[in-house]
Formats: sequence, C-alpha cells, structure tokens
Amino acid sequence: MRFDPWDPDFVAHPYRVYDELRREAPVSYFEPTNQWLISRHADVNALLRDRRLGRSHLHVATNEEFGRPAEPEFQEPFWRVIRAGMLDVEPPVHTRLRRLVSKAFTPRMVESLRPRVRAIAAGLVDAFVEKGGGDLLAEVAEPLPVTVIAEMLGIPHADRHLLRPWSAEICGMYELNPSLEAQHTAVRAASEFADYLKTLAAERRRAPGDDLISALAQIDELTEDELVGTCVLLLNAGHEATVNVTGNGWWSLLRNPSELARLREDRSLLPTAVEEVMRWDTPLQMFERWVLEDIEVHGVEIPRGSEVALLFGSANRDPAVFEDPDRLDVGRADNPHISFGAGIHFCLGAPLARIELIESYGALLDRAAKLELREEPSWKPGYIIRGLRSLEVTAAG
Ligand code: HEM
Repeated sequence: MRFDPWDPDFVAHPYRVYDELRREAPVSYFEPTNQWLISRHADVNALLRDRRLGRSHLHVATNEEFGRPAEPEFQEPFWRVIRAGMLDVEPPVHTRLRRLVSKAFTPRMVESLRPRVRAIAAGLVDAFVEKGGGDLLAEVAEPLPVTVIAEMLGIPHADRHLLRPWSAEICGMYELNPSLEAQHTAVRAASEFADYLKTLAAERRRAPGDDLISALAQIDELTEDELVGTCVLLLNAGHEATVNVTGNGWWSLLRNPSELARLREDRSLLPTAVEEVMRWDTPLQMFERWVLEDIEVHGVEIPRGSEVALLFGSANRDPAVFEDPDRLDVGRADNPHISFGAGIHFCLGAPLARIELIESYGALLDRAAKLELREEPSWKPGYIIRGLRSLEVTAAG
C-alpha cells in the first residue's frame, strides 16, 4: 500500500505506510495535492513552531503569487467566515483574536465546568445503559461536547441540532481535493451558520446573557465577521475532534481488551489513557502549512510558495519518540503526542477537551460494567478528520 488519502483501505490502516515514510522518505513530494509530506515527529513538531511557515499565506502573498489558482468566486462566503477566525490567520491578527477568547478557556476557567460536564456525561451514559446500548458515537460521544460548547456560547437548546450538520458540512472543505459538491455544501453551511450567528449576536447585544456570545458581542474591537468567525470556529473545533477521540478511543480499547481491563481496575490511569488513545489513533491525521520563506528539511529544499502536509498520525507513532509506538499502553507516562498541535495555533480547547474526555470515559467505565462491540465499525471516508461512522455496542451496568 502507499500513501493514498482517498483509498478507504489506507484510511483504515495508515500506520504501516507511515512507518515506511518515516524510515525511507521523511520528506516526500505528493503530486496529487502538490504538497510535501512530513512524517517524523521531530520535523512535524519543529515546523509547527517555525515562523517561516504559516497556516495562511494571504497576509504576505496572493494565491497567484504562490502559483496557485485563484479561489472560485462562489467560495467567498465560506472563506469570509473561516478566515475571520483565529485558526486561519497569522500574527498580529491571530494574537489579537486569540487573546480575546483565551480567558474563557484557561485551565482554571474550564475546571469550573467540570461538575456540569460530569452531570451531562452521567445523564447520557445512564440513558444509554438503560436501553442496553446502541450507537455510542451518536448517543454519548457527540451530544456531550456539543452540549458543553453550545452551553458555553449560549446557543438555545432548540437550535443545537443544527450545529453538528453545519460543522460536518463545513469540515468537508478541509479534506484533500474536496469534490465540487462538497465545496458547495460547505459554502451553503457556512452562510447559514453565519446568518444564524449574526441574528443571535444582535439579540445578545440588546439583551446580554451570561454566555460567551454575549461577552464577545460587547467587544467593540471585534468586527462582525470576526465575531461570527470566532463563534463558528469555537463551535466546530469545540466538538468535532472530541467526538472522534471518544469513538476512535473506545474502539481502540475494545480491540485491546487487556488495556481496557487494566483501566477498569485502576481508574487513576484515566488521564494517561485519554492521552494515549489520542496518540494511538490520531483524530486529526494531517495539518497543512504554507512555506512563507524557503526552508530545507533533511537536505530537501522546499521553496517559498510550497505547501507542507504534517502527518500527525505518523508523528504520533514515531519510534524515535515513543517506546514501542504501536502498542496501546493506557499507563504511558512519557507521551509528548502532537494531537493538539504545537506553536502559536496550539489547541485553545485542550484543557476543556481533556476534561470532557476524562469525564465521558469515566462515566462509561463507572456506569457500564459491560461494554461489548455489536459489529465491526467502519471509517468515514474523510482522512484529515478521521472518525468512525458509528460504534454499535451492547452496554449493561
Ligand atoms: C480532543 C479534542 C481536540 C483535538 C484533538 C484538537 C486539536 C487541535 C489542533 C491540532 C489544533 C491546531 C491546528 C493547527 O495547528 O493547524 C487545534 C486548534 C484549535 N482548537 Fe482544538 N482540538 C480539540 C478540541 C478542542 C475543543 C474542545 C475546543 C474548544 C473551544 C478547541 C478549540 C480550538 C481552537 C479555537 C483552535 C485554534 C487555535 C489557534 O489558532 O490559535 N479544540 N485543535
């Protein structure tokens, strides 16, 4: 097999291909996407922190100057939303946007949410066990982070069902070479989401509540586009990967029954177990960076205007950093995985994600003494955002 992010077999089993890349071609050109694949942990980590690269290049050069086609006009409403969020801008705009919301996501602030997260997790798991199980992804993994981030931002209960489809449709644009249909779907979703948030922000400006949208709507230095872009980012990033870490992670544990038994016997391993499932089956397999100034990696010159694809899933299995990397070890103490990124765009929500994951795994371990796979799950077609279609299990207390 070779690196082929559109091949379902590769998406299901990328790790042997990564081994080969790390060993034989730590930097390799991938023609179908016109990108340089970077597979070793040290290189991925260093390039994420290297200011000669950026998530965007538009602050220094146009697409044409970087030898890329101009964006089709129909995509404008999409990029207007996405490029107004901190993830798709570079300093100084990034610094300003991140500073405005970071107060809400400090470890201390999110720790105060733990009791609420615990209560939501308990309610979901109780209902799940009561009916003998079902799709763990749809019934536990998704509603927990969606509820938490929706409550933080102040999305009314009746509207929450809109978030998941909007997010999934927007994320379709992040896959490699998305189809024209996926592009149009993403544009429509971004426009609808933006209109919805503009209306909600206007209401909250008039009658503020005790929520993040109300707080952001009061900030004069935030333009309306930035407000919308920030909320879309928080709502999407605030659940998409957490859902997949829960689903992928439980499947990892069910495939490694001795590690699941070890965790059941010793709950003090929960924090290391959560980090380990995030490493072992990485929810976000790849992130891209633009090369803003010429760089050289392992003797390969990568000129300004190129794009690198940082293979997080490969970095997380690198034997140069992780002992026995293919082994799932819920007690792994030394675990510098790269799943939350590194550098200036390091995941703002990492402390919140950790609380959600510990509480949801904890609730399932406590309240479902028996948890068994009903059928072999299958992967969704996406490679960058890697998750299961469903996870059907039998659950009993
Ligand atoms: C296990 C779950 C999560 C994973 C694996 C994850 C992963 C990541 C990664 C890898 C990045 C950096 C992307 C890059 O450098 O190109 C990132 C950025 C970000 N994440 Fe998360 N994330 C998770 C949960 C969350 C949650 C719960 C939130 C809640 C708000 C969140 C909000 C953000 C934001 C706002 C950014 C952009 C930060 C910036 O550009 O400065 N994430 N995340």
